[in-house]
Amino acid sequence: MSGRTFAARLVAWQKRHGRHDLPWQRSRDAYTIWVSEIMLQQTQVTTVIPYYERFLRRFPTVRALARAPLEDVLTLWSGLGYYSRARNLHQAARVIVDTHGGRIPDVLEMVEALPGIGRSTAAAICVFAYGSRHAILDGNVKRVLARYRGVRGYPGDARVHQQLWRHAESLLPARHIVNYTQGLMDLGAGVCARNHPQCEQCPVCADCVAHVKGLTGKLPGRKPRRALPQRSTIMLLLQNAGEILLERRAPQGIWGGLWSLPEISNAREARRVCRERYGVTAIEVKKLPPVAHGFTHFKLTIEPICVRVKKSAAQAPGTVWLALADAVSAALPAPVRKIMLSL
Ligand code: ADE
Repeated sequence: MSGRTFAARLVAWQKRHGRHDLPWQRSRDAYTIWVSEIMLQQTQVTTVIPYYERFLRRFPTVRALARAPLEDVLTLWSGLGYYSRARNLHQAARVIVDTHGGRIPDVLEMVEALPGIGRSTAAAICVFAYGSRHAILDGNVKRVLARYRGVRGYPGDARVHQQLWRHAESLLPARHIVNYTQGLMDLGAGVCARNHPQCEQCPVCADCVAHVKGLTGKLPGRKPRRALPQRSTIMLLLQNAGEILLERRAPQGIWGGLWSLPEISNAREARRVCRERYGVTAIEVKKLPPVAHGFTHFKLTIEPICVRVKKSAAQAPGTVWLALADAVSAALPAPVRKIMLSL
Protein backbone atom coordinates (compact mmCIF):
# COMPACT_ATOMS: atom_id res chain seq x y z
CA MET A 1 0.00 0.00 0.00
CA SER A 2 1.13 3.52 -0.69
CA GLY A 3 2.35 5.37 2.40
CA ARG A 4 0.82 8.63 1.22
CA THR A 5 -2.47 9.70 2.68
CA PHE A 6 -5.77 9.45 0.83
CA ALA A 7 -5.80 13.23 0.50
CA ALA A 8 -2.21 13.51 -0.78
CA ARG A 9 -2.86 10.96 -3.52
CA LEU A 10 -6.17 12.54 -4.44
CA VAL A 11 -4.69 16.04 -4.63
CA ALA A 12 -1.79 14.87 -6.84
CA TRP A 13 -4.23 13.00 -9.06
CA GLN A 14 -6.58 15.99 -9.31
CA LYS A 15 -3.74 18.25 -10.40
CA ARG A 16 -2.77 15.87 -13.21
CA HIS A 17 -6.05 14.23 -14.23
CA GLY A 18 -8.86 16.28 -12.75
CA ARG A 19 -11.05 18.95 -14.30
CA HIS A 20 -9.59 22.47 -14.43
CA ASP A 21 -11.57 24.21 -17.13
CA LEU A 22 -15.14 24.10 -15.91
CA PRO A 23 -16.71 27.56 -16.26
CA TRP A 24 -17.13 28.01 -12.48
CA GLN A 25 -13.46 27.23 -11.95
CA ARG A 26 -12.49 30.43 -13.76
CA SER A 27 -13.13 32.63 -10.75
CA ARG A 28 -13.31 32.53 -7.00
CA ASP A 29 -16.28 34.86 -6.98
CA ALA A 30 -18.56 33.46 -4.29
CA TYR A 31 -21.71 34.45 -6.14
CA THR A 32 -20.85 32.59 -9.36
CA ILE A 33 -19.65 29.59 -7.36
CA TRP A 34 -22.88 29.57 -5.39
CA VAL A 35 -24.95 29.65 -8.60
CA SER A 36 -22.93 26.75 -10.02
CA GLU A 37 -23.26 24.63 -6.90
CA ILE A 38 -27.03 25.10 -6.84
CA MET A 39 -27.34 24.18 -10.52
CA LEU A 40 -25.08 21.16 -10.01
CA GLN A 41 -27.13 19.83 -7.09
CA GLN A 42 -29.36 17.64 -9.22
CA THR A 43 -28.07 18.21 -12.72
CA GLN A 44 -25.05 16.94 -14.64
CA VAL A 45 -22.15 19.20 -15.55
CA THR A 46 -22.74 19.09 -19.33
CA THR A 47 -26.38 20.12 -18.92
CA VAL A 48 -25.55 22.86 -16.44
CA ILE A 49 -22.87 24.68 -18.48
CA PRO A 50 -25.09 26.55 -21.01
CA TYR A 51 -27.65 27.42 -18.29
CA TYR A 52 -24.89 28.67 -16.03
CA GLU A 53 -23.40 30.90 -18.75
CA ARG A 54 -26.80 32.34 -19.68
CA PHE A 55 -27.81 32.88 -16.07
CA LEU A 56 -24.67 34.85 -15.27
CA ARG A 57 -24.96 36.99 -18.39
CA ARG A 58 -28.45 37.97 -17.29
CA PHE A 59 -27.70 38.17 -13.53
CA PRO A 60 -23.97 38.93 -13.20
CA THR A 61 -24.14 39.86 -9.52
CA VAL A 62 -26.11 38.89 -6.46
CA ARG A 63 -27.68 42.35 -6.52
CA ALA A 64 -28.85 41.88 -10.11
CA LEU A 65 -30.42 38.58 -9.11
CA ALA A 66 -32.06 40.05 -6.00
CA ARG A 67 -33.57 42.91 -8.05
CA ALA A 68 -35.00 40.64 -10.75
CA PRO A 69 -38.60 39.45 -10.70
CA LEU A 70 -38.88 35.75 -9.78
CA GLU A 71 -40.56 35.20 -13.13
CA ASP A 72 -37.34 36.11 -14.99
CA VAL A 73 -35.30 33.77 -12.81
CA LEU A 74 -37.69 30.91 -13.46
CA THR A 75 -37.61 31.61 -17.19
CA LEU A 76 -33.84 31.24 -17.26
CA TRP A 77 -34.11 28.08 -15.19
CA SER A 78 -36.69 26.61 -17.51
CA GLY A 79 -35.50 23.17 -18.62
CA LEU A 80 -33.14 22.56 -15.69
CA GLY A 81 -35.91 21.16 -13.49
CA TYR A 82 -36.27 21.18 -9.70
CA TYR A 83 -37.58 24.75 -9.78
CA SER A 84 -37.54 25.14 -6.00
CA ARG A 85 -33.80 25.59 -6.54
CA ALA A 86 -34.49 28.73 -8.58
CA ARG A 87 -37.01 30.06 -6.07
CA ASN A 88 -34.60 29.47 -3.19
CA LEU A 89 -31.70 31.00 -5.11
CA HIS A 90 -33.73 34.14 -5.73
CA GLN A 91 -34.93 34.27 -2.13
CA ALA A 92 -31.38 33.74 -0.85
CA ALA A 93 -30.10 36.56 -3.09
CA ARG A 94 -32.54 38.91 -1.40
CA VAL A 95 -31.43 37.73 2.05
CA ILE A 96 -27.79 38.23 1.06
CA VAL A 97 -28.47 41.78 -0.12
CA ASP A 98 -30.77 42.68 2.77
CA THR A 99 -28.89 41.14 5.66
CA HIS A 100 -25.32 40.41 4.51
CA GLY A 101 -24.59 43.64 2.60
CA GLY A 102 -24.61 41.83 -0.74
CA ARG A 103 -21.74 39.49 0.12
CA ILE A 104 -22.09 35.72 0.37
CA PRO A 105 -21.09 34.95 3.97
CA ASP A 106 -17.82 33.10 4.52
CA VAL A 107 -19.00 31.28 7.64
CA LEU A 108 -20.27 27.79 6.91
CA GLU A 109 -23.24 28.00 9.27
CA MET A 110 -24.35 31.30 7.77
CA VAL A 111 -24.19 29.91 4.23
CA GLU A 112 -26.07 26.82 5.36
CA ALA A 113 -28.79 29.01 6.86
CA LEU A 114 -29.63 30.43 3.40
CA PRO A 115 -32.66 28.95 1.64
CA GLY A 116 -31.90 25.90 -0.48
CA ILE A 117 -28.42 25.24 0.86
CA GLY A 118 -27.62 22.06 2.76
CA ARG A 119 -24.47 21.19 4.62
CA SER A 120 -22.57 19.79 1.63
CA THR A 121 -23.46 22.64 -0.74
CA ALA A 122 -22.55 25.20 1.92
CA ALA A 123 -19.21 23.43 2.39
CA ALA A 124 -18.50 23.34 -1.37
CA ILE A 125 -19.24 27.08 -1.64
CA CYS A 126 -16.95 27.89 1.30
CA VAL A 127 -14.16 25.68 -0.08
CA PHE A 128 -14.26 26.98 -3.65
CA ALA A 129 -14.98 30.62 -2.84
CA TYR A 130 -12.94 31.12 0.30
CA GLY A 131 -10.59 28.15 0.49
CA SER A 132 -12.01 27.19 3.89
CA ARG A 133 -11.47 23.68 5.17
CA HIS A 134 -14.79 21.83 5.17
CA ALA A 135 -15.94 18.36 4.19
CA ILE A 136 -18.44 17.80 1.40
CA LEU A 137 -20.71 14.81 0.96
CA ASP A 138 -22.81 14.85 -2.19
CA GLY A 139 -24.15 11.74 -3.92
CA ASN A 140 -20.93 10.99 -5.81
CA VAL A 141 -18.74 11.58 -2.79
CA LYS A 142 -20.90 9.22 -0.72
CA ARG A 143 -20.11 6.52 -3.26
CA VAL A 144 -16.36 7.26 -3.23
CA LEU A 145 -16.18 7.19 0.57
CA ALA A 146 -18.50 4.21 1.05
CA ARG A 147 -16.23 2.24 -1.25
CA TYR A 148 -12.93 3.56 0.06
CA ARG A 149 -13.81 2.94 3.69
CA GLY A 150 -16.00 -0.12 3.03
CA VAL A 151 -19.10 1.43 4.62
CA ARG A 152 -21.98 -0.96 4.21
CA GLY A 153 -25.64 -0.02 4.19
CA TYR A 154 -27.74 2.50 2.34
CA PRO A 155 -26.35 6.08 2.52
CA GLY A 156 -29.91 7.41 2.88
CA ASP A 157 -30.05 5.63 6.23
CA ALA A 158 -29.27 8.17 9.01
CA ARG A 159 -26.67 5.99 10.72
CA VAL A 160 -24.80 5.25 7.48
CA HIS A 161 -25.04 8.92 6.51
CA GLN A 162 -23.46 10.00 9.81
CA GLN A 163 -20.72 7.44 9.40
CA LEU A 164 -19.94 8.81 5.92
CA TRP A 165 -19.81 12.36 7.28
CA ARG A 166 -17.31 11.21 9.91
CA HIS A 167 -15.12 9.67 7.19
CA ALA A 168 -15.47 12.81 5.07
CA GLU A 169 -14.24 14.89 8.03
CA SER A 170 -11.45 12.55 9.03
CA LEU A 171 -9.94 12.33 5.53
CA LEU A 172 -9.72 16.12 5.05
CA PRO A 173 -6.21 17.43 4.39
CA ALA A 174 -4.68 20.41 6.16
CA ARG A 175 -3.79 22.04 2.83
CA HIS A 176 -4.88 22.03 -0.83
CA ILE A 177 -8.52 21.89 0.13
CA VAL A 178 -9.66 23.16 -3.30
CA ASN A 179 -7.84 20.48 -5.29
CA TYR A 180 -8.87 17.91 -2.73
CA THR A 181 -12.58 18.79 -2.90
CA GLN A 182 -12.54 19.03 -6.67
CA GLY A 183 -10.65 15.72 -6.75
CA LEU A 184 -13.39 13.99 -4.76
CA MET A 185 -15.99 15.34 -7.19
CA ASP A 186 -13.89 14.42 -10.24
CA LEU A 187 -13.22 10.91 -8.97
CA GLY A 188 -16.90 10.40 -8.20
CA ALA A 189 -18.02 11.72 -11.58
CA GLY A 190 -15.61 9.54 -13.56
CA VAL A 191 -13.25 6.84 -12.33
CA CYS A 192 -15.44 5.84 -9.35
CA ALA A 193 -18.63 5.64 -11.42
CA ARG A 194 -21.56 3.69 -10.02
CA ASN A 195 -21.33 1.10 -12.80
CA HIS A 196 -18.04 -0.19 -14.14
CA PRO A 197 -15.66 1.89 -12.02
CA GLN A 198 -12.17 2.16 -13.53
CA CYS A 199 -10.30 1.11 -10.42
CA GLU A 200 -7.02 0.61 -12.27
CA GLN A 201 -6.96 4.39 -12.84
CA CYS A 202 -7.87 5.30 -9.29
CA PRO A 203 -5.20 6.97 -7.15
CA VAL A 204 -6.53 5.39 -3.95
CA CYS A 205 -7.40 1.86 -5.10
CA ALA A 206 -4.49 0.27 -3.20
CA ASP A 207 -6.28 0.68 0.14
CA CYS A 208 -9.85 1.07 -1.10
CA VAL A 209 -11.79 -1.52 0.93
CA ALA A 210 -14.34 -2.12 -1.83
CA HIS A 211 -11.64 -2.61 -4.46
CA VAL A 212 -9.45 -4.83 -2.33
CA LYS A 213 -12.38 -7.02 -1.23
CA GLY A 214 -14.12 -7.04 -4.62
CA LEU A 215 -17.13 -5.14 -3.29
CA THR A 216 -17.36 -2.20 -5.71
CA GLY A 217 -20.56 -3.65 -7.17
CA LYS A 218 -22.10 -3.89 -3.68
CA LEU A 219 -21.10 -0.49 -2.30
CA PRO A 220 -22.72 1.85 -1.63
CA GLY A 221 -25.64 -0.30 -0.51
CA ARG A 222 -28.92 0.11 -2.35
CA LYS A 223 -32.09 1.48 -0.90
CA PRO A 224 -33.77 -1.34 0.98
CA ARG A 225 -36.91 -2.53 -0.70
CA ARG A 226 -39.98 -1.86 1.32
CA ALA A 227 -42.24 -4.88 1.82
CA LEU A 228 -44.77 -4.76 -0.97
CA PRO A 229 -48.47 -4.63 -0.16
CA GLN A 230 -50.22 -7.96 -0.61
CA ARG A 231 -53.38 -8.38 -2.62
CA SER A 232 -55.26 -11.53 -3.40
CA THR A 233 -57.94 -12.59 -5.80
CA ILE A 234 -59.85 -15.73 -6.67
CA MET A 235 -59.98 -16.84 -10.30
CA LEU A 236 -62.50 -19.27 -11.72
CA LEU A 237 -61.50 -21.85 -14.29
CA LEU A 238 -64.89 -22.71 -15.77
CA GLN A 239 -64.52 -25.90 -17.79
CA ASN A 240 -67.01 -27.51 -20.11
CA ALA A 241 -66.32 -30.27 -22.60
CA GLY A 242 -62.59 -29.54 -22.84
CA GLU A 243 -63.19 -25.80 -23.20
CA ILE A 244 -62.44 -23.01 -20.77
CA LEU A 245 -64.13 -19.65 -20.36
CA LEU A 246 -62.02 -16.50 -20.85
CA GLU A 247 -63.19 -13.01 -20.09
CA ARG A 248 -61.85 -9.77 -21.57
CA ARG A 249 -60.54 -7.40 -18.89
CA ALA A 250 -61.52 -3.75 -18.74
CA PRO A 251 -59.17 -1.49 -20.72
CA GLN A 252 -57.97 0.31 -17.57
CA GLY A 253 -56.18 -1.14 -14.59
CA ILE A 254 -53.84 -4.08 -14.37
CA TRP A 255 -53.70 -6.27 -17.45
CA GLY A 256 -56.05 -3.83 -19.22
CA GLY A 257 -57.57 -5.37 -22.35
CA LEU A 258 -56.01 -8.80 -21.89
CA TRP A 259 -57.99 -12.03 -21.76
CA SER A 260 -58.19 -13.50 -18.28
CA LEU A 261 -60.34 -15.65 -15.98
CA PRO A 262 -63.49 -14.58 -14.12
CA GLU A 263 -62.64 -13.16 -10.71
CA ILE A 264 -64.53 -13.26 -7.42
CA SER A 265 -63.64 -12.00 -3.97
CA ASN A 266 -65.06 -14.84 -1.87
CA ALA A 267 -64.90 -18.57 -2.64
CA ARG A 268 -68.45 -19.03 -1.31
CA GLU A 269 -69.74 -16.92 -4.23
CA ALA A 270 -68.46 -19.37 -6.86
CA ARG A 271 -71.68 -21.26 -7.61
CA ARG A 272 -73.89 -18.16 -7.57
CA VAL A 273 -71.55 -16.18 -9.84
CA CYS A 274 -71.40 -19.11 -12.29
CA ARG A 275 -75.14 -19.02 -12.55
CA GLU A 276 -75.86 -15.32 -12.46
CA ARG A 277 -72.89 -13.85 -14.32
CA TYR A 278 -71.80 -16.59 -16.71
CA GLY A 279 -74.99 -18.57 -17.41
CA VAL A 280 -73.55 -21.93 -16.29
CA THR A 281 -74.35 -24.41 -13.52
CA ALA A 282 -71.50 -25.65 -11.37
CA ILE A 283 -71.27 -29.45 -11.17
CA GLU A 284 -67.97 -29.86 -9.37
CA VAL A 285 -65.88 -27.23 -7.53
CA LYS A 286 -62.22 -27.83 -6.68
CA LYS A 287 -59.60 -25.43 -5.22
CA LEU A 288 -56.14 -25.43 -6.84
CA PRO A 289 -52.86 -24.37 -5.18
CA PRO A 290 -52.35 -20.56 -5.06
CA VAL A 291 -50.03 -18.80 -7.53
CA ALA A 292 -47.98 -15.75 -6.50
CA HIS A 293 -47.15 -12.93 -8.88
CA GLY A 294 -44.95 -9.89 -8.23
CA PHE A 295 -45.77 -6.46 -9.62
CA THR A 296 -43.55 -3.44 -9.00
CA HIS A 297 -45.95 -2.01 -6.41
CA PHE A 298 -47.67 -5.03 -4.89
CA LYS A 299 -47.71 -8.78 -4.68
CA LEU A 300 -50.71 -10.65 -5.97
CA THR A 301 -51.75 -14.08 -4.82
CA ILE A 302 -54.18 -15.84 -7.11
CA GLU A 303 -56.29 -18.62 -5.66
CA PRO A 304 -57.63 -20.61 -8.60
CA ILE A 305 -60.87 -22.56 -8.32
CA CYS A 306 -61.60 -25.15 -10.95
CA VAL A 307 -65.34 -25.52 -11.70
CA ARG A 308 -66.78 -28.17 -14.01
CA VAL A 309 -69.93 -26.60 -15.42
CA LYS A 310 -72.96 -27.27 -17.57
CA LYS A 311 -74.08 -24.44 -19.88
CA SER A 312 -77.56 -23.37 -18.84
CA ALA A 313 -78.25 -19.86 -20.19
CA ALA A 314 -77.01 -17.26 -22.69
CA GLN A 315 -73.26 -16.63 -22.76
CA ALA A 316 -72.11 -13.49 -20.95
CA PRO A 317 -70.86 -10.60 -23.11
CA GLY A 318 -67.09 -10.17 -23.23
CA THR A 319 -66.49 -13.88 -22.71
CA VAL A 320 -65.36 -16.67 -25.00
CA TRP A 321 -65.17 -20.47 -24.68
CA LEU A 322 -61.90 -21.83 -26.05
CA ALA A 323 -60.27 -25.25 -26.15
CA LEU A 324 -57.57 -25.27 -23.45
CA ALA A 325 -54.79 -25.48 -26.09
CA ASP A 326 -56.10 -22.31 -27.79
CA ALA A 327 -56.81 -20.54 -24.54
CA VAL A 328 -53.18 -20.75 -23.38
CA SER A 329 -52.02 -19.00 -26.54
CA ALA A 330 -54.45 -16.09 -26.14
CA ALA A 331 -53.23 -12.68 -24.89
CA LEU A 332 -53.17 -13.68 -21.23
CA PRO A 333 -51.37 -12.32 -18.16
CA ALA A 334 -48.39 -14.56 -17.38
CA PRO A 335 -49.70 -15.97 -14.07
CA VAL A 336 -53.06 -16.79 -15.67
CA ARG A 337 -51.27 -18.74 -18.37
CA LYS A 338 -49.27 -20.49 -15.67
CA ILE A 339 -52.47 -21.57 -13.91
CA MET A 340 -53.94 -22.93 -17.14
CA LEU A 341 -50.78 -24.82 -17.96
CA SER A 342 -50.97 -26.52 -14.56
CA LEU A 343 -54.34 -28.06 -15.35
N1 ADE B 1 -20.86 18.89 -8.73
C1 ADE B 1 -21.14 19.67 -7.69
N2 ADE B 1 -20.25 20.67 -7.61
C2 ADE B 1 -19.40 20.52 -8.63
C3 ADE B 1 -18.27 21.22 -9.09
N3 ADE B 1 -17.86 22.32 -8.47
N4 ADE B 1 -17.62 20.76 -10.16
C4 ADE B 1 -18.05 19.67 -10.78
N5 ADE B 1 -19.11 18.96 -10.41
C5 ADE B 1 -19.77 19.37 -9.34
